[in-house]
Amino acid sequence: MAGGETDAAEPEWRRLNRANWDERARVHLGPRGYNLTALRAGRGRLGLVEQELGPVDGLKILHLQCHIGTDSLALAQRGAQVVGVDFSPTAIGAARRLSAELGLADQTHFVQADVYEADRAVNDPHGFDRVFITWGTICWIPDLKNWARIIAHFLRPCGYLYFAEGHPAALVFDDQTGADPARPGFFWPYLLARGPLIEADPRDYSDPEARLANATTHQWLHPVGEVVTALIEAGLRLDWLHEHEAVPWRMFDCLVEDAEGFFRWPDRAWLPLAYSLRARAEEEEKIHHRGAEARRRGGRLG
Ligand SMILES: C[S@@+](CC[C@H](N)C(=O)[O-])C[C@H]1O[C@@H](n2cnc3c(N)ncnc32)[C@H](O)[C@@H]1O
Repeated sequence: MAGGETDAAEPEWRRLNRANWDERARVHLGPRGYNLTALRAGRGRLGLVEQELGPVDGLKILHLQCHIGTDSLALAQRGAQVVGVDFSPTAIGAARRLSAELGLADQTHFVQADVYEADRAVNDPHGFDRVFITWGTICWIPDLKNWARIIAHFLRPCGYLYFAEGHPAALVFDDQTGADPARPGFFWPYLLARGPLIEADPRDYSDPEARLANATTHQWLHPVGEVVTALIEAGLRLDWLHEHEAVPWRMFDCLVEDAEGFFRWPDRAWLPLAYSLRARAEEEEKIHHRGAEARRRGGRLG
């Protein structure tokens, strides 16, 4: 679905998740929402992403699930041309307004579309040097094969995906479960969590006072092996995978915020809280070969 169209056959999970994100986007623009000070001062913060992603000056970047565009705009401030995609019309509207306010409209383009339909909404196959996907994204989508297909569809030969996400080994815990109030407890099993987890949680990770009316969401826990395998099967090659002791949101109540705005375990880092990876597209001949194969089979790429 793109450009504000409605789809009568839209699955329930997507309708509910979008209502939740439309409401959250409004919260994130409010007084206890996202901190836009650095962005407005000319250089939005990217945290650990900055060191891992490398220079982006002059690159074309596709930012999937871009939310209100803060990271897309931070990338544009570093000289990139960025296309941001998100299924929330409220988030995309906010991203466009922010872009205009910051004088970045020439370098950014924001498109309302579901991640699985991005190939129909953005007509630029193999047109991007980077696909950029970070923090709190794949838990909202059920199927990683299709996700990886979309990434491979957009990367130019030898371009790469940069992906950073909360670590699923940590996400088996939550604050509500467990005996020790100072520690999260086991919540759902890593390998058996085929999802979706349907829950009604009115809280927001950014504004502790917010109470969401559209509280019911569908989420999926994707093991690291599933993510990597989906990317490899879509024709990407893994360059590296890093595990991190910190994550950019308060994943658990007991985490402690550091000077960079990342959250860490209060004592020993028993488990990673986040991971990131770089996966590279094939060379041109291999992409053409894969496309020809897919056409012969009458199917789609990937
Ligand atoms: C946690 S936010 C991403 C945060 C972003 N990385 C940032 O730093 O602001 C998740 C985003 O995914 C979007 N989203 C969730 N499901 C989606 C889907 N199926 N297609 C497109 N966007 C989706 C939501 O609208 C939301 O903006």
